[in-house]
Order: sequence, then structure tokens, then C-alpha cells
Amino acid sequence: MKKLEIIIRPGLFEKVRDMLSEKGIHGLNYTEIKGFGRQRGHTEVYRGNIMQVDCLPKVKIEIVLHNDMIESVINAVVATARTGQVGDGKIFISDVEDAIRIRTGERGDAAL
Ligand SMILES: Nc1ncnc2c1ncn2[C@@H]1O[C@H](COP(=O)(O)OP(=O)(O)OP(=O)(O)O)[C@@H](O)[C@H]1O
Ligand SMILES: [Mg+2]
Repeated sequence: MKKLEIIIRPGLFEKVRDMLSEKGIHGLNYTEIKGFGRQRGHTEVYRGNIMQVDCLPKVKIEIVLHNDMIESVINAVVATARTGQVGDGKIFISDVEDAIRIRTGERGDAAL
């Protein structure tokens, strides 16, 4: 099992969420965050406006999923969330040791 932390533009969240749902993702979290990348202190376009700020609103989606889904989900997120402009976001991937479905006690992949 791996966890994807997907940081994207807020305006693309619904499109990415719907795409993930269509790909059979059964659970996710999302959080409205603020952050910065390499252009800190420089201008970036947000909702059509050029902004000069330290931190910009982003959405972070967290998904824990089976190893064999990772590459196809990454490819689909990149295809859906890319505008080609700075600030499109990042995907971070990490190993998840275990998972538990509280209702049934199922563990590992069966808990996803
Ligand atoms: N190294 C990092 N660690 C954690 N979060 C990051 C990191 N880099 C970027 N982020 C998060 O991702 C968001 C978008 O980053 P962004 O796409 O601007 O990255 P970038 O490296 O500057 O690439 P680009 O040059 O395409 O803008 C940031 O606002 C921040 O929330
Ligand atoms: Mg950037």
C-alpha cells in the first residue's frame, strides 16, 4: 500500500475528484491548504489574477491505494491537473505499513 499526497490547484479539485471516482478509488481525504513552491515571492496566476504573495491556496488530496494502482492514478492526475503554468502542484508518494477497517477489523489491502 502506498499513500499519494496530491497537491493541485483548487479550481481543478472537482475534476480530479470525479476522475478518481471513475477510476474506482474508494476513499480519499482532501484539505484546503496554503503553500508555496519554487516561485516564492514571485507572481503566480490564481483564478485568472496575477498575485504576488508568499503562499497560495491549494488543495491536498490524500489517497491510500494498492501498489498496482499507483502508476495509473499518477498518470491520470497529471493529465487532469496539468495546465502547463507554474503552480500546477506536486504528487508525493510514501509507503503505508498497514491499514485497518474499524468496522470489520480487516487489515492491509483488504481494508482499503
Ligand atoms: N518540496 C515541497 N514540499 C511540500 N510541498 C510542496 C513542495 N513543493 C511544492 N509544494 C506544494 O505544492 C504547491 C505547488 O507547488 P508548485 O507546483 O508551485 O511547485 P514548483 O516546484 O514551484 O513547480 P513549478 O515550477 O511548476 O511551479 C505549493 O504551493 C506547496 O503547497
Ligand atoms: Mg511553483
